[in-house]
Amino acid sequence: MIYLNGKLVPEKKALVSVFDHGFLYGDGIYETLRAYKGTVFMIDEHIERLFRSASMIGLVLPQGHDGIKKVVYQTIKANKHKEAYVRITVSRGPGPLGLDPALCPEPTFVIISKKFTDYPGSYYQKGVNITIVNTRRNYKKALDPKIKSLNFLNNILAKRESIEKGAYEAIMLNHRGYIAEGTISNIFFLKKNVLCTPATGVGILDGITRRLILDAARKLGIKVNEGRFRPEDVYSADEVFISNTTMEVMPVSEIDDKKAGTKCTVTKQLHKAYRKKVKEYIKKAGGA
Ligand code: PDD
Repeated sequence: MIYLNGKLVPEKKALVSVFDHGFLYGDGIYETLRAYKGTVFMIDEHIERLFRSASMIGLVLPQGHDGIKKVVYQTIKANKHKEAYVRITVSRGPGPLGLDPALCPEPTFVIISKKFTDYPGSYYQKGVNITIVNTRRNYKKALDPKIKSLNFLNNILAKRESIEKGAYEAIMLNHRGYIAEGTISNIFFLKKNVLCTPATGVGILDGITRRLILDAARKLGIKVNEGRFRPEDVYSADEVFISNTTMEVMPVSEIDDKKAGTKCTVTKQLHKAYRKKVKEYIKKAGGA
């Protein structure tokens, strides 16, 4: 079942108009969440970020924070999902051709819940390969990566490059050549026992997983550097990993044919801390 504009409908009936400005212009926003044992992890933070994205594009969401939370749970329950990938999508809605958002009186609001399939265990044991691509991350004064926007061509062009090179994830630089982020992930690396990750000012999405990892690192007494880094810094790192809501902490074994650190000691330590946080969260939520 799909939640569409106030109703749960079967997938085949979950249809939107060809005049929807999400379809015509990529005008809209989204969030990806993950449910563990029926509890949607960090749901408040994701909804808050949805509101931030909405406000940055001048979109008024059809429901408040608690209302959205309720319908997210309704959707996963209607599908009897315990382990789920949940996507909230809000587009500007249907309206006549033209860019003026006022042409669309009602946004289109969709929640999809899909059974979560685990990533192959080898990804975590051996790590994945990544590549730094030529496609630059959107300039934040053009389309701020802080907006989790439906306009995904920037990421898709980068992804095409990584597919061509046989790499799992593409890392984009910002307009000035500093490491920014992956197409759907944030990047971290360890250098001389300092955990480094691009600062939000570089022009990235401030991943919710990223926040938790930085928090866990500080609690573990690991020094953290949110800064501006060049490709050479990552190429010469001791450990590299990428993160997002669904993959959590994913070790990187190779970056542009250069072997990344193979031990992944700190990466594993941080993943363990992240998992612990998930467990505590589920326990506290009591399965919701
Ligand atoms: N992607 N950077 C980008 C460009 C992303 O699209 C994402 C998330 C992240 C990590 O954010 P978080 O830790 O809050 O998931 C960073 C989601 C998973 C997606 O596109 O489906």
